[in-house]
Amino acid sequence: MTSPESVRIIAGDARRMPGVARNSVALVVTSPPYPMIPQWDALFESWGATDFEAMHRELDRVWAACYRVLVPGGLLAVNIGDALRSTSGEFRLWPNHARVLSAAEKRGFRPLPYILWKKPTNKPNAFLGSGFLPPNAYVTLDCEFILLFRKGPLRRLAPKSPERHASRYRKEERDLWFSQIWEGIRGIPQASGNGRSGAFPPEIPRRLIRMFSIVGDTVLDPFAGTGTTLWEASHLGRRAIGIELDRVRAEALERERTRREGTPPTGSPR
Ligand SMILES: C[S@@+](CC[C@H](N)C(=O)[O-])C[C@H]1O[C@@H](n2cnc3c(N)ncnc32)[C@H](O)[C@@H]1O
Repeated sequence: MTSPESVRIIAGDARRMPGVARNSVALVVTSPPYPMIPQWDALFESWGATDFEAMHRELDRVWAACYRVLVPGGLLAVNIGDALRSTSGEFRLWPNHARVLSAAEKRGFRPLPYILWKKPTNKPNAFLGSGFLPPNAYVTLDCEFILLFRKGPLRRLAPKSPERHASRYRKEERDLWFSQIWEGIRGIPQASGNGRSGAFPPEIPRRLIRMFSIVGDTVLDPFAGTGTTLWEASHLGRRAIGIELDRVRAEALERERTRREGTPPTGSPR
């Protein structure tokens, strides 16, 4: 279902959303660098952001830019996990999901019911506490959030639109995908702090793209990383735009795009 020009890679900063036209994107599927996770400390520090609130203020700029480029009724899906971290000797939860939810709502997005992605743990006995004695142990953080928002009222589509009908899902898919807890999808934990990409499993964008867009739509990932969203979108007959700040990753994306689509690289704004 792919066409040669169906994926566009932009090497740049999503806070400025270079090269993406206002009201042109039907769906954003993304996973940002998570605030308060050591893996992303250096990136946030390079923006002068060293605490939870300052880190989120940088991400807020991306949510605002997503609002501008989405079509009326377009959807924003943000995969994010909370963080556990000690600061000034105090161990606590940093609720990234709550902070993104409130920022997006302030920006004008309508919050929708979200999905909890329960990650299968390879450490079933991971437990923060001492033995079996109450009360000072902590609950294991084994879910990530897929926050969902819409830009304004429902998107208007022609009821007989052939693209919409070509994008139909089956009853079994609907029953599974529209339930609030997603289990059995393997992921790569961001909290590992070992410099890995933080890529999410293809099944996550694959479901979201089929749930919230139709064939021919444009899907954007402003934090493209290894391009999981882009390759899935293209495979599903959608156009895809990926923005990536890291030069090395952006070049790798462009190489992968060329390899998959057999076309020369397109230009990028920087
Ligand atoms: C959590 S990873 C995304 C992983 C992606 N979902 C995947 O499946 O590979 C976040 C990515 O966003 C990139 N990034 C961070 N800040 C950015 C910004 N301001 N603009 C564009 N990309 C950014 C990072 O370099 C990293 O590749």
